[in-house]
Formats: sequence, structure tokens, C-alpha cells
Amino acid sequence: MSVFAIRSICCIGAGYVGGPTMAVIADRCPDLQVTVVDLNEQRIAAWNDRDLSQLPVYEPGLDAVVGRARGRNLTFSTAVDEAIANADMVFISVNTPTKTKGLGAGQASDLRWVEACARQVAKVAKGHTIVVEKSTLPVRTAQAIKQILAAAHGGDDHARSFSVLSNPEFLAEGTAIGDLEAPDRVLIGGEEPAAIDALASVYAHWVPQEKILRTNLWSSELSKLTANAFLAQRISSINSIAAFCEATGADVREVARAIGSDSRIGAKFLQAGPGFGGSCFQKDILNLVYLCRHFGLPEVADYWESVVALNTWQQHRISRLVVQKLFGTVTGKRLAVLGFAFKADTNDTREAPAIRICRDLLEEGAQLAIHDPKVDPEQIARDLHLPASAAPDPAAGPSRAALSGDGTWWQGADEAATIAGADAVLILTEWQQYRQLDWTVLAPLLRQPAWIFDARSVVDPAVVAAAGLKLWRVGDGGVESEA
Ligand code: NAD
Ligand code: UDX
Repeated sequence: MSVFAIRSICCIGAGYVGGPTMAVIADRCPDLQVTVVDLNEQRIAAWNDRDLSQLPVYEPGLDAVVGRARGRNLTFSTAVDEAIANADMVFISVNTPTKTKGLGAGQASDLRWVEACARQVAKVAKGHTIVVEKSTLPVRTAQAIKQILAAAHGGDDHARSFSVLSNPEFLAEGTAIGDLEAPDRVLIGGEEPAAIDALASVYAHWVPQEKILRTNLWSSELSKLTANAFLAQRISSINSIAAFCEATGADVREVARAIGSDSRIGAKFLQAGPGFGGSCFQKDILNLVYLCRHFGLPEVADYWESVVALNTWQQHRISRLVVQKLFGTVTGKRLAVLGFAFKADTNDTREAPAIRICRDLLEEGAQLAIHDPKVDPEQIARDLHLPASAAPDPAAGPSRAALSGDGTWWQGADEAATIAGADAVLILTEWQQYRQLDWTVLAPLLRQPAWIFDARSVVDPAVVAAAGLKLWRVGDGGVESEA
């Protein structure tokens, strides 16, 4: 039993991490009151929507978890101060994106939202409050949080005190509920054993003790950046080999199977593709790079920076080869894009490889028909910096935009409507439904000679060849493309 009894939890930030994480905590700990707060009223309204298909985050299984806990011991609210004041433990789960201007722009994490949370907690918390860093933060951020909280001690009518813990989140989008319900490990960094015990007692409701790791604050903060750097490094490594496979007649899937069978290497995270996306990998590596330079380790910084550089190169490489295969020009040509989310089973498009690849092709004057089963077309418009247009009518001849060389895009109603009239299909997200497409039926919808660019290894090359389509498949040097 911990010295600090936890009855009430507040989480600041109702995003991809705060929402699902707190939903699982509430589900697994019916004795705790969990309140998730956010300044974004629209987001909170969506979390409170009676229709569970309208939750702001799409995650398989999330609707069931929220359905069980919401209204029982899980609340979503915009009343930030009230929730902090009532909480024994406050999780900070706000966004920490890369800074876009000022010192460290393009690399350092923007900590303005984290600092705002710390100040808010310092202002309104009551009694003893355990503050938990759930956001991914630069190593030594806890120091700043502590200083802000320390400045709030005394001086008012409430006896207040604070403990600070680091408890980074390792969930991956698309598998968040499974990752939260059966984590490989839970990491708690801190200096006060009683506070660490209090947080461990929350997880102990469903996580075996041996999976709850305890470290000092700085190891915990740095472990999160390091885990993401290692995972991303594997993807850049396999993508670099994919390009080499294409040049030499090898097949990256076979190479991945061969090396992944070595238990020292392991089989996971060896899927070649259009490069890693998502809100975490690039941001966290760039942050690591920034910190290494700050601490006088330029060689270490360069090493990790190359992981991001290879990833960017892989995305441009794909758009470049699409142009090359289509006789050197895509101006005015219809190209179908299947998948816009950064991976399957999420509606998240942050840093999605599709963004860079589509922007490159729009820049070349392509007319893109884009399909994604979960991404909102307004989100695609924001990501591409272009409003959606209507699909041009092929019978009416080339559109004005096509003739002037301006790229445009529209949302395809389904896969067949997206593909119709296109010269090529790019598969950029590995949605299960794309694996089931019948290319024999779809091939006649395309303008011949037509190409499939499969960046996610979802099609069967033999089926595509039999349908009379040309194929480029990531990392496949032996593909029979000239069907
Ligand atoms: P997000 O942008 O989806 O959500 C953050 C939320 O915080 C937003 O809704 C925003 O309105 C809210 N917010 C910001 N400042 C606030 C304030 N002062 N008061 C109240 N609400 C405030 O971000 P996310 O994807 O949930 O990521 C959160 C953190 O978790 C980041 O540090 C990220 O690096 C880390 N992380 C993310 C993932 C992931 O898969 N997305 C996984 C592990 C860790
Ligand atoms: C990642 C980490 O996995 C997670 O632990 C951390 O908490 C947040 O960042 P996420 O970005 O949600 O999670 O998804 P992840 O499954 O890691 O995929 C990231 C990107 O890498 C995706 O674009 C995915 O398509 C790509 N990827 C992943 C590959 O290209 N090949 C692989 O083998 C694995």
C-alpha cells in the first residue's frame, strides 16, 4: 500500500495518447475516478458523443472501452482547473511538436503546452499532487517542471506539495488498446519511492509487477527517445536495403525474413515501405539530435539525423520513380492514391508518407484521386495545402487545371471510383481492404498501359501481372513489371 492513496486522476490532453490511455486506466481501475480534460471543446464534445463511432480518435477496440467506462468513472471535460484541483495524480499528456521557429526550430521540441500545464497545476492543485509526465519530453524536462511547481509551494491557504514522475507512453497507433492492456513494459522514472509506488499501484490493477520498470527520472525520459530512435532506425535500415534490392534483383521481403530469423535481430519492424510517418519518430529523433548537439556530441547527432534523412529520401524516391515510369511526366495524368493515413487502422495523418509523396506529384501537375477509409477529406486538404476539387469528367477532355499543369485532388468514393481512368495506382497505406482488391476486375478501369506502385507489399505480383498491369513493388528487384 502506497503512502499516497490515489482516488482521483486528471489527465491534461485528450489526444491520441490521453484519451485511449485514460480510457484503459478507467476500465481497469473501477475504484478510480478518471477525468480527461482538454482546452479543445470540439474534441471533448466528440469524446462525449453518444455515438461511439464519432470518437475523435479511431482505434480498434477503443469504442468498447470508452463505452464501458464513460459515465461510470471516466469523464471528458473542459473544466481543467476543477479536474486538477480534485486530482491526487495529474498526467500531462499534451502535444510536444517540433518547434517551427526560434531557437532550435526544426529540431527541438516545443514545450509551451507542457509548461502551461505545469503552471496551471502549480496554480490550482490542492494537497499533495503527483504530476506525471506522459508526453514524450526532452531529457531533463522534469527539472523545469519541478522548478515551476516548487515556486507554487506555500503562500496561499492550501497546504500544497508535489512529486514529479516520468511515465512515457509506448503505445503505437492502430494497436493502442492491445498495447495498453498488455504492455511489454510500463516505465516509471522518479526520485521518491512513495510516488513511484502510487503510480505503480494504478498499473498493478492489470500489469504484472515484473513488467513495471523503475528508473531514475532522466533514464526514463531518455528511454522513450531512445526506443523511438531504435525503432525508426530499423525502418530506415530496411528501406535502404529495399532500394539496394531493387538495384540488384534481390527481394527485400526475403532478405527481411532471412535476417529476422536471427534471434539477435528479430523479425519485427523490418517491413520496407514508403518510410515511417506518425507524430513521434521524426519529432523524437530530431529532438535527440538537437539534444546531442546541445551536449557537445555532434557525431552522435549526425548518426541519428541520417535516420531521418534516409526516410525523407525514400519518400522522394518513390514520387520520383512514379514520374520516371510514367514516361517522365505526370502532368495532367490521373493517379489513384490508396491510403493516406500514416499506417493502417488509424485516422492519423501526421507526417504520413502520403503527404510528401502526394505533394511531390501535385507539384508535377498530377490529378490525384485519393481514397482512405478513415481519414477525413478536410484533413487531407489541410495536409496538402489545397482544397479538394471535383473529379474531372474525362469525356469533357482535359481540365483547365490539367492543361495549365496545376495539380489537383479529389476524394474517391470507393476504391473503384478512385482508380477509374487513372494511369497508375499508388498504395501508400496497408489497409486490410486493399489486400482484397480484385485486380482482374479493376484493371479495365485504368488507362493502359497502367501501373501499380505498391509501397506496402499488399498486392500479389502474379495476380497483378495476370491482370495485365505493370508493377513496382518496394524492394523487389525481380518483379515482372513488363507484363
Ligand atoms: P494530440 O495533439 O493528439 O493531443 C494533445 C492534446 O492536448 C490536444 O487535444 C490539445 O488540445 C491538448 N492541450 C494542449 N495544451 C493543453 C492545455 N494547456 N490544457 C489542456 N489541454 C491541452 O497529441 P498526442 O498524439 O496525444 O501526443 C501527446 C504526447 O504523447 C506527445 O508528447 C507525444 O509525443 C506523446 N506520444 C504520442 C504517441 C502517439 O502515438 N500519438 C505515442 C507515445 C507518446
Ligand atoms: C511509434 C512507436 O512504435 C510507439 O512505441 C511510440 O509510442 C509512438 O511511435 P506509431 O508511430 O503509432 O508508434 O506507429 P508504428 O507502428 O511504430 O509505425 C510508425 C511508422 O513506421 C508507420 O508509418 C509505419 O507504417 C512504419 N513502419 C513500421 C514501417 O514502415 N515498417 C515497419 O516494419 C514498421
